Amino acid sequence: QVDRYLYPLRLSDDVLLDVMARFQAEMVKGLGRDTNPTATVKMLPSFVRSLPDGSEKGEFLAVDLGGSQFRAHQVKVFDDGRQSSQLESKSYPTPKEVTQGNGAELFDYIADCLSDFMETRNLKNKKLPLGFTFSFPCRQTKLEEGVLLAWTKHFRVRGVQDTDVVSSLRRALQKHQDIDVDVLALVNDTVGTMMTCGYDDQRCEVGLIIGTGTNACYMEEMRHISLVEGDEGRMCINTEWGAFGDDGALDDLRTEFDRELDLGSLNPGKQLVNTFHTSLLQAKCVVKTRWLLWCDNTHFWPHQPSPLRRAPCPSRFAKRLHKAVRRLVPTCDVRFLLSAGGSGRGARRRLDAALAPFLLPPGTLREVRDKMRAELEYGLKREAQGKATVKMLPTYVCGTPDGTEKGKFLALDLGGTNFRVLLVKIKSGRRRSVQMYNKIFAIPLEIMQGTGEELFDHIVQCIAEFLEYMGIKGARLPLGFTFSFPCRQASIDKGTLVGWTKGFKATDCEGEDVVDMLREAIRRRNEFDLDIVAVVNDTVGTMMTCGYEDPNCEIGLIAGTGSNVCYMEDMKNIEIVEGNEGKMCINTEWGAFGDNGCIDYIRTKYDREVDEGSLNPGKQRYEKMTSGMYLGEIVRQILIDLTKQGLLFRGHISESLRKRGIFETKFLSQIESDRLALLQVRRILQQLGLDSTCDDSIIVKEVCGVVSTRAARLCGAGLAAVVEKKRENRGVERLQITVGVDGTLYKLHPHFSTVLRETVKELAPQCDVTFMLSEDGSGKGAALITAVAKRLHNVGQK
Ligand code: BG6
Ligand code: GLC
Repeated sequence: QVDRYLYPLRLSDDVLLDVMARFQAEMVKGLGRDTNPTATVKMLPSFVRSLPDGSEKGEFLAVDLGGSQFRAHQVKVFDDGRQSSQLESKSYPTPKEVTQGNGAELFDYIADCLSDFMETRNLKNKKLPLGFTFSFPCRQTKLEEGVLLAWTKHFRVRGVQDTDVVSSLRRALQKHQDIDVDVLALVNDTVGTMMTCGYDDQRCEVGLIIGTGTNACYMEEMRHISLVEGDEGRMCINTEWGAFGDDGALDDLRTEFDRELDLGSLNPGKQLVNTFHTSLLQAKCVVKTRWLLWCDNTHFWPHQPSPLRRAPCPSRFAKRLHKAVRRLVPTCDVRFLLSAGGSGRGARRRLDAALAPFLLPPGTLREVRDKMRAELEYGLKREAQGKATVKMLPTYVCGTPDGTEKGKFLALDLGGTNFRVLLVKIKSGRRRSVQMYNKIFAIPLEIMQGTGEELFDHIVQCIAEFLEYMGIKGARLPLGFTFSFPCRQASIDKGTLVGWTKGFKATDCEGEDVVDMLREAIRRRNEFDLDIVAVVNDTVGTMMTCGYEDPNCEIGLIAGTGSNVCYMEDMKNIEIVEGNEGKMCINTEWGAFGDNGCIDYIRTKYDREVDEGSLNPGKQRYEKMTSGMYLGEIVRQILIDLTKQGLLFRGHISESLRKRGIFETKFLSQIESDRLALLQVRRILQQLGLDSTCDDSIIVKEVCGVVSTRAARLCGAGLAAVVEKKRENRGVERLQITVGVDGTLYKLHPHFSTVLRETVKELAPQCDVTFMLSEDGSGKGAALITAVAKRLHNVGQK
C-alpha cells in the first residue's frame, strides 16, 4: 500500500529526460518576443550583462527580501589585487503583517530596517548605493526598475503587483531624512547568488536557489533574447522556473499530494514546480558545456563538518541532485559549489578567520611544552619564591600509599564542581579496602564570594549536618581537607592561601592559613571537635586515590572546573625544602602558566575577553584556555562575535547569549557528542534560550569542537613537559608512568581525553603514559594522606 502511494513520486531517467525536453521548449518560448506572453517560464531579462571581473571596488548596501531571512548587508569591495571583500549583515524579522499586509507598510518597513542597519553600522552620514535583492518575479526594462508580476511563496502584499518595486522603495526611503541611499539595482536572489560566486570564480554562469522557493538564472547570449534590443554580448536571464507546468504541462506527473498542497497554498494553480521533487527540475539544467553552478541554500548541508575536515559535506538531497544532473547531461561538466548563507565564501572565510587562531600547529605545541618545562624548573628554584608564575608548591606528601593505612577519617572536598563531606573507613592487611560515605552540599554564590568567616561557617555547618546524618557527632575524628586552591605549605597541616582561583573570591582569606580558619569556625560553632591533620590539593588527593590501586601513579591531573597537575619530585631538586633524600609531591599550580605573558602570542581576543570578565583578570591564563569553567565562556564570546558579523542566529544577539556562564561543561559535552543529531543540538541550544536554525547548530558545534580541542592539546603539551621531566629525573630511556586523573571535563567530554592522550604521545614519545581515572574523587586520597600523617604523628609523639 505504501508503495502504491510512493510509486508516482519515483521518476525514471527517461521521464526526467522528457521533462528536460519540455523545459527546454518552454525556455525557448519564454525567450521569444511573440511567444513569451503565453510561456509559463517567464525568462525575465535582468539587465545584468556581465559577471564581476575583479576590478570592482567601493562600499555598497544591500537588502535581501524573499528568502527565509530578511537581511541588510554592508559590502566593501577592495581593489587590492586579491579581490577581497568584506560583508557585515543583520537580519530582521518578517512578521505576517509585513508579508501579507499592504504595500506602503512593506516598503516603509524595509526602509526602517535599512535605517536601523545604517545606524548600527555608523553609516548614516554616508551616501551609499543600494542593491535590492527581491526574490520574486519582476519584469525589468532596466537594472533599476522592476514590475512585480506576482507574489510567490508566503508573500501576498496588497497593492504591489503590477507596480515598480524600486520606485516604491525609493519613496519609502525619501521619508527618512536621516539617510541618503541611492537604489542602483534590483536583482533576483538567483542573480545575486551567481554574482557573489562569480566574483570568486568567473566560470560561474548559473545561479540556483533551492530554499523557501526554487529558481535559477543563467547567462544567455543576447542574440537569443528577442525581448531586449541588441544582439551583442550576454545578459543574465532569471528563468522563474517555479511557474513551469502552470499551463498543465506537468499534470501527468503531479501526484494527488502535489494537488492537495497546491490547493492549500496562497497561490493555487501557480508555481507548480515548487511542489515537485527538485531533481526533476534539474533535468532542465541546460545546454552549456563547462559551466559552474553555485547553489545557495541554507538547507543544503545539514551534516556537521568535523573540525579536522573543514569543508562541509553535501546532504543526501544535494548528492542526489548532483548525480541526477551528471547522469542526464553527461556532455556537461557541471560543478556544484555552495554559496553559504548567501554571502558566498565570505561567510566561510570569516568563520575560518575567527577560528584559525585556535588551531595550534605541532610546532607551537612543542613551544608550549618547552615553555612549561622551563617554568616548572624555574618554580623549583630558591630565587624564584614569590616570583614564579608556575608556583611549584611543596605539599609535604612524601610517598604514595603502601597499603598499611587504616582507620576512620573525615574528609572535606572543596573547590571542584561539588562540595563534599565524607566519612572514609580504611582497612589494611588482608582485608584491605576503603569504604566511603559522602554527602554533597551546595555552596551558594553569595557564600563563595562573601566573607571568609561566612564561607568557613558554612563549611562547618555542612560538617555538622553530615555528622548528624551519619550519627557520629560525638567522635573526634581526624580530618583531611582537600582544598583545591593554591596554598603555600610549611607542613602537611598548614596551608596559606596564595590567592583564590575559579569561582571563589571570599574576602579576608588570601594570605591566611586555611586550617586555622577552619579550626576557628569549628570553635565558633562550639558543637563538636575535629582533628585537622592534613590539607591537600585535589591533584594530590587524586594522585593518592589512584596510587592506592597503582603504585606507579606519580602524577595527579585535574581537568575540571580548573586545571592543575601535581607530581612526585626528587627532594634534591626542590631547593626550598631541606633534605635531599626521597621524593615529595609538588603541586605545580600550572593554571597560572602564562601569567607573565609567555604564551600571550597564542591567546586570542576571545581569551582576553573571557579573562577581562573573570573574577581574577590577568591571572590563571593557561587555566582559562584549558578548563571547564572557561571553555563555555570562550565559546560564548566567539558566538557573540559571529552573530555580530551576521553569521549566526540571524544576526540577533539574544538575552541568553549575553548571559555569562550559560555554556556549562555538560552542555559543551552534549553538543559535541558524535551520536547527537543536529536536531538534538538545536534542542540543547533552545533549552539555553538560543533559537537556532540548522545552520546555526552546525556552526555552534564546530566552534565548541575547536575550543575544546585546543584545550585538550594545550593540556597535553603541559602534561608532556611533566612526564618528560619525570623521565629525565629517573634517568631512563623509556618511562612507564601512570597519571591519576579527575575532573568533569575529562570525564564528561566526548573527545577531550582522547585528544589529550594523543597529544602527550606526540610530544613525549619516550614516555608510556597510562591514564587512570579516579572514580572515587580526591576525598579518598585525602583520607589516605591523613592516615599516613596520623601514623607518623603518633610515632613521633611516642
Ligand atoms: C572531584 C574531586 O572528583 O573532582 C575534587 O573529588 C576535584 O577534589 C574535582 O576538585 C575536580 O573536577 P571538577 O570538574 O569538579 O572541578
Ligand atoms: C585551580 C586551583 C588548583 C586546583 C585546580 C583544579 O587551578 O588553583 O589548586 O588544583 O583548580 O581544581
